[in-house]
Amino acid sequence: MQKFDKMKVIYGNKELELPVLHGTEGADCVEISSFEKELNLYTFDPAFLSTASCHSKITFIDGDKGILAHRGYPIEALAGHRTFLETFFLLFTGKKHEDDYPNFEIFKKIAMDNLKIDEKTKSIITSFNKDDHPMAILMAAFSYIASKNCLSWNPNDLEQVRKTLIKISGEFLACVITVYRYIKGKSLEIKITPHFTETICLNMFDEEHFRANKKIVESVFNKLFVLHADHEQNASTSVLRITASTEVNPYASIVAGIATLWGPLHGGANEAVIDMLNGINSVEDVPSYIAKVKTKEVKLMGFGHRVYKNYDPRALLIKDTCDTVLETFQHVGEKEKLFIARELEKQAMNDEYFTSRKLFPNVDFYSGIIYKALDVPTQFFTAMFAGARVAGWCSQMYEFYSEPRKISRPRQLYIGEKIK
Ligand code: CMC
Repeated sequence: MQKFDKMKVIYGNKELELPVLHGTEGADCVEISSFEKELNLYTFDPAFLSTASCHSKITFIDGDKGILAHRGYPIEALAGHRTFLETFFLLFTGKKHEDDYPNFEIFKKIAMDNLKIDEKTKSIITSFNKDDHPMAILMAAFSYIASKNCLSWNPNDLEQVRKTLIKISGEFLACVITVYRYIKGKSLEIKITPHFTETICLNMFDEEHFRANKKIVESVFNKLFVLHADHEQNASTSVLRITASTEVNPYASIVAGIATLWGPLHGGANEAVIDMLNGINSVEDVPSYIAKVKTKEVKLMGFGHRVYKNYDPRALLIKDTCDTVLETFQHVGEKEKLFIARELEKQAMNDEYFTSRKLFPNVDFYSGIIYKALDVPTQFFTAMFAGARVAGWCSQMYEFYSEPRKISRPRQLYIGEKIK
């Protein structure tokens, strides 16, 4: 499509020329911030269907082509090739770890030194029931950590912002691990080894199981966490940027992100997929489920995406991992779920309802099956997603604080009573 530098708007007898901003990839954006001043008009775009809320150098998605890239590197070059920590470093700094090894080591040290949790936070976690939702427990635990850190926070000291955001990743993962260990009835002590991936996996998964299958568990963990690490301006990241714009401490912003991610249309979809698969008894029942989706009685969870109108590249990368994991861990129940999932996908991909709406499997269609095979409780899936997304949240917050900023404050179209 031809590109232009300006857009002309005619409103009554007024004419306004608006600049068109060109990114390095993807759609251009018309800059409309002069609308109110010049025309006394607001733009109306609920759910941000056509609105870019910021500019960013971190992640790019081409939804029509099914492309996802972080700092210019396609996800296919990262997932399965880079560890989660290396990917986090790339998201945060824009540099590959091998190109800035000394700073990567400092980055790793800050994250690892903070993989710990104090007694008071532990007691907040253990005040919940073991079957309470982990996302609620995480919000409570991190809210307490926010209360301890709010006074020292200075959003204008960029070096402090940088260190705090890396520190947060360690503290948040320590919370995720502790909540996991608590609901699994394990001791709350976090064992630290010199290696980041090993430390997370050792504390997160059954120790005996992990030691017997170290290589595969570490590789699956890194793959899933890299795939979930960042996804540009999704709902939770946008909420985080808005919360950060008030200059509240970043711990509180993370709590807002956790709440947003929890929803079944966002990160909670991985849990909802397993609930859906549990409700379909066998492959033979797939056609009747698809029929209910088409009459809009239910949704096909793990399908569809606001941005992808093609296969979510993360779903493609995860799909093969399902087979490896299920073969290694011999989970018969999960294998049955995988058969049902594959049949759902096959039938949906051959049905006009889904093809005409460009509904494809997203990352969470298959991620739950893998977590289940790794013995992660279904209710905990979204907390795993949060553990990975903390990388994106912290990187996006750092970018946000590194630039000139204003408080986010949308307008509205008032349709209530006239003033009496
Ligand atoms: N099952 C059945 N129909 C669907 C689905 C679905 N999963 N998703 C969208 N549609 C239909 C929708 O009913 C609408 O039909 P119609 O044109 O007849 O009204 C059409 O497709 C367009 O959908 P939409 O609701 O306008 O799409 P959206 O961009 O507002 O919503 C979504 C995107 C992800 C919320 C939605 O596709 C959905 O609810 N999917 C299921 C939940 C899910 O898997 N979420 C995880 C997203 S990926 C993980 C992450 O990054 O958060």
